[in-house]
Amino acid sequence: MRIVSAAVDGFRNLHTAEFTFSPRVNLVLGRNGEGKTNLLEALNFFALGRSHRGAKSEELIHFKKDHLHVRLEIEEDSGALVSCEYGLGRDGGRRLRVDGAALRRRADLVGRLATVFFNPDSIRLVRGGPDRRRQFVDQGMAEIDPAYLTHLSAFQQVLRQKTRLLRDQRQGLVDAGQTRRELASWNREMANHAAAVCLGRRQYAEFLSPFFQEAHNSLIDNNLNLEFSYAARLESVTRAFSASPENPLPKEDLEGEILTELDYIMDSEIRRGRPLIGPQSDDFKVVLGGVDLRTYGSQGETRTAAIAMILARSDVLFQKRRIRPVLFFDDIFSELDRERTRRLQEMASHLHQVFIATARRDDIADWQPAQIKTWQVGEGGFSEI
Ligand SMILES: Nc1ncnc2c1ncn2[C@@H]1O[C@H](COP(=O)(O)OP(=O)(O)OP(=O)(O)O)[C@@H](O)[C@H]1O
Ligand SMILES: [Mg+2]
Repeated sequence: MRIVSAAVDGFRNLHTAEFTFSPRVNLVLGRNGEGKTNLLEALNFFALGRSHRGAKSEELIHFKKDHLHVRLEIEEDSGALVSCEYGLGRDGGRRLRVDGAALRRRADLVGRLATVFFNPDSIRLVRGGPDRRRQFVDQGMAEIDPAYLTHLSAFQQVLRQKTRLLRDQRQGLVDAGQTRRELASWNREMANHAAAVCLGRRQYAEFLSPFFQEAHNSLIDNNLNLEFSYAARLESVTRAFSASPENPLPKEDLEGEILTELDYIMDSEIRRGRPLIGPQSDDFKVVLGGVDLRTYGSQGETRTAAIAMILARSDVLFQKRRIRPVLFFDDIFSELDRERTRRLQEMASHLHQVFIATARRDDIADWQPAQIKTWQVGEGGFSEI
């Protein structure tokens, strides 16, 4: 998949700009604060339906404008050209279109533009809290299995209902009998979606592992065993998975086990006034040569593992859906040594379209890939050099 061209109008400090990109390597150079990340954010927005920096729509609109508009021409891996547009207004207006037709639900966006984004924050995939790893796996699995996204959204919905019910009863708004009856019914629904989510997460960890190991071996010269594994929070799930590592038990059976556990902790949840355990607190282990990198990894080790993890996600997407995502590297090479930088650049640009933003030309010194295009950015304006 690649972005053929873009027309950007009023996105942060980018006034109006048009680009025709290289199918291989696109380099964006400029000093700090000139607008490099803004361009990558504008291109990546369509992939997620939101800013990868978590910015609100209103923050994305140029200070002096009332709306922004971005049009991308995308070439799918089949060779088909697709026109994707989005517009955001200060009045809260928000429109996303594919070939002129409006998209209504976030789920309609999945796979339209597949991207993978690396920035210095990516290290938190390994070092940060479990929510980072859950989000990584959830997004990865949703990309290859839309049914997973449906179960995950339904699970989150039930979790919100349960949280509200438990809070209401703590505040004395609902009596104990009604709380129990309603909890029993929410638990049944939750067990159904939780079983699908847990099976999906375990499956994704299995898909990812060999690619993770391979990407890691290519980045550094050692053959230490690298493991990415699912650490479920529910005991029933851990027990069920360790009892049959090869053949995960059928969903209905897992659902039954989860329901028993959820019902068992019902009294504690009522006492504490909130849901206590479930897939909402799952984690994933990242273990290199027997050492848990989440806790013991050095800066360099965790950074390399995080990069390998993200590259592996793009391999899974290709294996399952035949889609090669567009890769974005925002300011990450300055933190890697020269050898790793060069290997990553070669690996990434070999099969993908890549966008690299950097303030330091050194990062790409003596790297001369075929079909490279370079832009210099200054005060929100771009010139090709
Ligand atoms: N809504 C907006 N309207 C106008 N300008 C904005 C808006 N939002 C951010 N900016 C400006 O964009 C600039 C930051 O751009 P960006 O983050 O792309 O910089 P950068 O080139 O990536 O810098 P660095 O090398 O430090 O990462 C800041 O000067 C900021 O004031
Ligand atoms: Mg930046």
